[in-house]
Amino acid sequence: MDERRDLIVGNWKMHATHLEAIQKIQKLSYRLRPEDFERVEVVVAPPFTALRAAQLVIETDHLPIRLGAQNVHWEDQGAFTGEVSAPMLAKLAVTHVIVGHSERRTLFAETDTIVNRKLKAVIRHGMRPILCVGETLEEREVGSTEEVVVRMVRDGLAGIPPEAVAATAIAYEPVWAIGTGHHADPDDAGAVAELIRGTIRARVGEVADQIRILYGGSVNPGNIKGFMAKRHIDGALVGGASLDPDTFAAVVRYWV
Ligand code: PGA
Repeated sequence: MDERRDLIVGNWKMHATHLEAIQKIQKLSYRLRPEDFERVEVVVAPPFTALRAAQLVIETDHLPIRLGAQNVHWEDQGAFTGEVSAPMLAKLAVTHVIVGHSERRTLFAETDTIVNRKLKAVIRHGMRPILCVGETLEEREVGSTEEVVVRMVRDGLAGIPPEAVAATAIAYEPVWAIGTGHHADPDDAGAVAELIRGTIRARVGEVADQIRILYGGSVNPGNIKGFMAKRHIDGALVGGASLDPDTFAAVVRYWV
Protein backbone atom coordinates (compact mmCIF):
# COMPACT_ATOMS: atom_id res chain seq x y z
CA MET A 1 0.00 0.00 0.00
CA ASP A 2 1.22 3.50 -0.81
CA GLU A 3 2.32 5.80 2.00
CA ARG A 4 -0.36 8.42 2.46
CA ARG A 5 0.60 11.67 4.11
CA ASP A 6 -1.82 12.77 6.82
CA LEU A 7 -4.26 15.50 5.84
CA ILE A 8 -5.88 17.64 8.54
CA VAL A 9 -8.36 20.29 7.43
CA GLY A 10 -9.88 23.06 9.53
CA ASN A 11 -13.38 23.93 8.33
CA TRP A 12 -14.13 27.31 9.89
CA LYS A 13 -17.69 27.37 8.52
CA MET A 14 -19.27 30.85 8.84
CA HIS A 15 -16.77 32.13 11.40
CA ALA A 16 -14.01 34.76 11.29
CA THR A 17 -13.69 38.07 9.48
CA HIS A 18 -10.68 38.51 7.23
CA LEU A 19 -8.84 40.26 10.08
CA GLU A 20 -9.55 37.43 12.48
CA ALA A 21 -8.44 34.97 9.82
CA ILE A 22 -5.02 36.60 9.59
CA GLN A 23 -4.57 36.35 13.37
CA LYS A 24 -5.69 32.75 13.51
CA ILE A 25 -3.38 31.66 10.71
CA GLN A 26 -0.40 33.45 12.22
CA LYS A 27 -1.07 31.99 15.66
CA LEU A 28 -1.43 28.53 14.18
CA SER A 29 1.87 28.88 12.36
CA TYR A 30 3.66 29.85 15.60
CA ARG A 31 2.41 26.66 17.23
CA LEU A 32 3.47 24.27 14.49
CA ARG A 33 7.01 23.16 13.62
CA PRO A 34 8.60 22.12 10.35
CA GLU A 35 8.44 18.44 11.45
CA ASP A 36 4.69 18.75 11.92
CA PHE A 37 4.26 19.89 8.34
CA GLU A 38 6.43 17.04 7.10
CA ARG A 39 4.06 14.59 8.64
CA VAL A 40 0.77 16.41 8.09
CA GLU A 41 -0.59 18.46 5.24
CA VAL A 42 -2.40 21.25 7.09
CA VAL A 43 -5.29 23.06 5.39
CA VAL A 44 -7.47 25.87 6.71
CA ALA A 45 -10.76 26.66 5.02
CA PRO A 46 -11.99 30.14 6.04
CA PRO A 47 -15.08 31.84 4.57
CA PHE A 48 -14.76 33.26 1.03
CA THR A 49 -14.38 36.81 2.35
CA ALA A 50 -11.20 35.86 4.22
CA LEU A 51 -9.49 33.93 1.42
CA ARG A 52 -7.58 36.87 -0.06
CA ALA A 53 -6.26 37.98 3.34
CA ALA A 54 -5.38 34.38 4.19
CA GLN A 55 -3.58 33.96 0.86
CA LEU A 56 -1.53 37.08 1.49
CA VAL A 57 -0.44 36.12 5.00
CA ILE A 58 0.47 32.60 3.88
CA GLU A 59 2.52 33.90 0.94
CA THR A 60 4.13 36.85 2.73
CA ASP A 61 5.19 34.80 5.75
CA HIS A 62 6.06 31.74 3.61
CA LEU A 63 3.82 29.51 5.70
CA PRO A 64 3.48 25.85 4.76
CA ILE A 65 -0.24 26.05 5.51
CA ARG A 66 -2.56 25.33 2.60
CA LEU A 67 -5.70 27.20 1.79
CA GLY A 68 -9.09 25.55 1.39
CA ALA A 69 -12.53 26.78 0.35
CA GLN A 70 -15.78 25.54 1.84
CA ASN A 71 -17.87 25.51 -1.31
CA VAL A 72 -17.79 26.34 -5.03
CA HIS A 73 -20.17 26.73 -7.96
CA TRP A 74 -19.90 24.25 -10.84
CA GLU A 75 -19.87 26.80 -13.66
CA ASP A 76 -16.79 28.90 -14.37
CA GLN A 77 -18.74 32.15 -14.70
CA GLY A 78 -22.19 33.48 -15.50
CA ALA A 79 -25.43 34.82 -14.07
CA PHE A 80 -25.30 33.05 -10.69
CA THR A 81 -25.79 35.84 -8.17
CA GLY A 82 -23.95 35.22 -4.94
CA GLU A 83 -21.88 32.29 -6.18
CA VAL A 84 -18.10 31.84 -6.42
CA SER A 85 -16.43 29.77 -9.16
CA ALA A 86 -13.50 27.37 -9.23
CA PRO A 87 -11.23 29.63 -11.38
CA MET A 88 -11.78 32.44 -8.86
CA LEU A 89 -10.64 30.14 -6.05
CA ALA A 90 -7.69 28.76 -7.99
CA LYS A 91 -6.42 32.31 -8.56
CA LEU A 92 -6.41 32.83 -4.79
CA ALA A 93 -4.02 29.89 -4.44
CA VAL A 94 -6.75 27.71 -2.97
CA THR A 95 -5.57 24.10 -3.18
CA HIS A 96 -8.48 22.21 -1.57
CA VAL A 97 -12.23 22.65 -1.85
CA ILE A 98 -14.75 21.02 0.48
CA VAL A 99 -17.63 19.67 -1.58
CA GLY A 100 -20.94 18.25 -0.40
CA HIS A 101 -20.62 19.05 3.29
CA SER A 102 -23.73 17.79 5.08
CA GLU A 103 -24.70 21.37 5.97
CA ARG A 104 -24.72 22.18 2.25
CA ARG A 105 -26.68 19.04 1.49
CA THR A 106 -29.33 19.56 4.19
CA LEU A 107 -29.59 23.37 4.50
CA PHE A 108 -28.90 24.27 0.87
CA ALA A 109 -30.46 21.28 -0.89
CA GLU A 110 -27.32 19.99 -2.59
CA THR A 111 -27.93 16.68 -4.33
CA ASP A 112 -25.38 14.05 -5.37
CA THR A 113 -25.69 15.39 -8.94
CA ILE A 114 -24.78 18.92 -7.84
CA VAL A 115 -21.95 17.59 -5.69
CA ASN A 116 -20.60 15.66 -8.68
CA ARG A 117 -20.68 18.78 -10.89
CA LYS A 118 -18.84 20.78 -8.24
CA LEU A 119 -16.23 18.06 -7.88
CA LYS A 120 -15.60 18.15 -11.63
CA ALA A 121 -15.22 21.95 -11.56
CA VAL A 122 -12.64 21.72 -8.77
CA ILE A 123 -10.63 19.10 -10.66
CA ARG A 124 -10.91 21.01 -13.96
CA HIS A 125 -9.15 23.92 -12.29
CA GLY A 126 -6.34 21.90 -10.76
CA MET A 127 -7.51 21.89 -7.15
CA ARG A 128 -8.24 18.96 -4.87
CA PRO A 129 -11.81 18.22 -3.81
CA ILE A 130 -12.66 16.97 -0.34
CA LEU A 131 -15.86 15.04 -0.88
CA CYS A 132 -17.97 14.78 2.28
CA VAL A 133 -20.18 11.77 2.81
CA GLY A 134 -22.06 10.44 5.82
CA GLU A 135 -25.32 9.09 7.15
CA THR A 136 -27.93 10.83 9.28
CA LEU A 137 -29.01 9.42 12.65
CA GLU A 138 -32.22 8.06 11.11
CA GLU A 139 -30.29 6.34 8.34
CA ARG A 140 -27.91 4.85 10.89
CA GLU A 141 -30.75 3.61 13.08
CA VAL A 142 -32.37 1.74 10.23
CA GLY A 143 -29.04 0.19 9.29
CA SER A 144 -28.46 1.99 6.00
CA THR A 145 -25.11 3.64 6.79
CA GLU A 146 -23.18 1.51 4.28
CA GLU A 147 -25.75 1.96 1.54
CA VAL A 148 -25.86 5.76 1.97
CA VAL A 149 -22.09 6.16 2.09
CA VAL A 150 -21.49 3.93 -0.93
CA ARG A 151 -24.11 5.84 -2.92
CA MET A 152 -22.61 9.23 -2.02
CA VAL A 153 -19.11 8.08 -2.95
CA ARG A 154 -20.22 6.43 -6.19
CA ASP A 155 -22.45 9.28 -7.35
CA GLY A 156 -20.04 11.97 -6.18
CA LEU A 157 -17.19 10.46 -8.20
CA ALA A 158 -19.30 9.50 -11.24
CA GLY A 159 -17.53 10.12 -14.55
CA ILE A 160 -14.27 11.22 -12.96
CA PRO A 161 -11.20 9.51 -14.46
CA PRO A 162 -8.91 7.44 -12.17
CA GLU A 163 -6.03 9.94 -12.13
CA ALA A 164 -8.40 12.69 -10.99
CA VAL A 165 -9.97 10.40 -8.42
CA ALA A 166 -6.48 10.03 -6.93
CA ALA A 167 -6.42 13.78 -6.20
CA THR A 168 -9.67 13.59 -4.27
CA ALA A 169 -9.97 13.16 -0.52
CA ILE A 170 -13.08 11.67 1.02
CA ALA A 171 -14.29 12.90 4.40
CA TYR A 172 -16.50 10.44 6.23
CA GLU A 173 -18.63 12.63 8.46
CA PRO A 174 -21.60 10.98 10.15
CA VAL A 175 -24.16 13.78 10.27
CA TRP A 176 -25.12 12.98 13.87
CA ALA A 177 -21.51 13.54 14.96
CA ILE A 178 -21.08 17.00 13.42
CA GLY A 179 -21.05 19.80 15.96
CA THR A 180 -22.69 17.61 18.61
CA GLY A 181 -19.74 16.56 20.76
CA HIS A 182 -20.68 12.94 20.03
CA HIS A 183 -17.91 11.57 17.86
CA ALA A 184 -18.16 8.20 16.13
CA ASP A 185 -16.51 5.14 17.57
CA PRO A 186 -13.08 4.94 15.88
CA ASP A 187 -13.61 1.25 15.05
CA ASP A 188 -16.89 2.05 13.30
CA ALA A 189 -15.35 5.00 11.45
CA GLY A 190 -12.39 2.84 10.44
CA ALA A 191 -14.74 0.20 9.06
CA VAL A 192 -16.62 2.80 7.00
CA ALA A 193 -13.30 4.20 5.74
CA GLU A 194 -12.34 0.70 4.61
CA LEU A 195 -15.68 0.35 2.86
CA ILE A 196 -15.09 3.70 1.10
CA ARG A 197 -11.66 2.61 -0.10
CA GLY A 198 -13.07 -0.70 -1.30
CA THR A 199 -15.86 1.09 -3.18
CA ILE A 200 -13.33 3.32 -4.91
CA ARG A 201 -10.99 0.41 -5.63
CA ALA A 202 -13.82 -1.43 -7.35
CA ARG A 203 -14.10 1.52 -9.75
CA VAL A 204 -10.56 2.74 -10.32
CA GLY A 205 -8.31 -0.05 -9.05
CA GLU A 206 -5.02 0.55 -7.26
CA VAL A 207 -5.39 4.35 -7.39
CA ALA A 208 -7.72 3.90 -4.42
CA ASP A 209 -4.65 3.32 -2.23
CA GLN A 210 -3.50 6.91 -2.86
CA ILE A 211 -6.74 8.53 -1.73
CA ARG A 212 -6.81 10.13 1.66
CA ILE A 213 -9.87 9.27 3.72
CA LEU A 214 -10.63 11.62 6.59
CA TYR A 215 -12.91 11.30 9.57
CA GLY A 216 -14.98 14.30 10.62
CA GLY A 217 -17.49 14.94 13.40
CA SER A 218 -16.58 16.37 16.83
CA VAL A 219 -12.87 15.74 16.39
CA ASN A 220 -10.81 17.27 19.21
CA PRO A 221 -7.30 16.92 20.67
CA GLY A 222 -8.56 14.18 23.01
CA ASN A 223 -10.03 11.86 20.38
CA ILE A 224 -8.02 12.46 17.20
CA LYS A 225 -5.40 9.83 18.02
CA GLY A 226 -7.97 7.03 18.09
CA PHE A 227 -9.09 7.88 14.56
CA MET A 228 -5.58 8.32 13.18
CA ALA A 229 -4.66 4.85 14.46
CA LYS A 230 -7.07 3.29 11.98
CA ARG A 231 -5.46 1.87 8.88
CA HIS A 232 -7.84 3.48 6.40
CA ILE A 233 -8.18 6.87 8.12
CA ASP A 234 -5.55 9.33 6.92
CA GLY A 235 -6.68 12.56 8.50
CA ALA A 236 -9.53 14.64 9.81
CA LEU A 237 -11.98 17.35 8.82
CA VAL A 238 -12.28 19.51 11.91
CA GLY A 239 -14.99 22.11 12.55
CA GLY A 240 -15.38 23.59 16.04
CA ALA A 241 -11.93 22.55 17.23
CA SER A 242 -10.26 24.30 14.29
CA LEU A 243 -11.36 27.80 15.32
CA ASP A 244 -8.93 28.14 18.19
CA PRO A 245 -5.32 27.95 16.95
CA ASP A 246 -4.08 26.28 20.16
CA THR A 247 -6.71 23.57 19.94
CA PHE A 248 -6.25 23.05 16.22
CA ALA A 249 -2.47 22.83 16.62
CA ALA A 250 -3.02 20.14 19.27
CA VAL A 251 -5.20 18.22 16.80
CA VAL A 252 -2.54 18.51 14.09
CA ARG A 253 0.16 17.30 16.55
CA TYR A 254 -2.01 14.34 17.52
CA TRP A 255 0.91 12.00 18.23
CA VAL A 256 2.52 14.28 20.84
P1 PGA B 1 -17.26 19.59 14.03
O1 PGA B 1 -17.56 19.83 12.47
O2 PGA B 1 -15.81 19.23 14.15
O3 PGA B 1 -17.58 20.89 14.68
O4 PGA B 1 -18.15 18.47 14.47
C1 PGA B 1 -16.98 19.00 11.51
C2 PGA B 1 -17.42 19.42 10.14
O5 PGA B 1 -18.56 19.87 9.98
O6 PGA B 1 -16.65 19.32 9.16
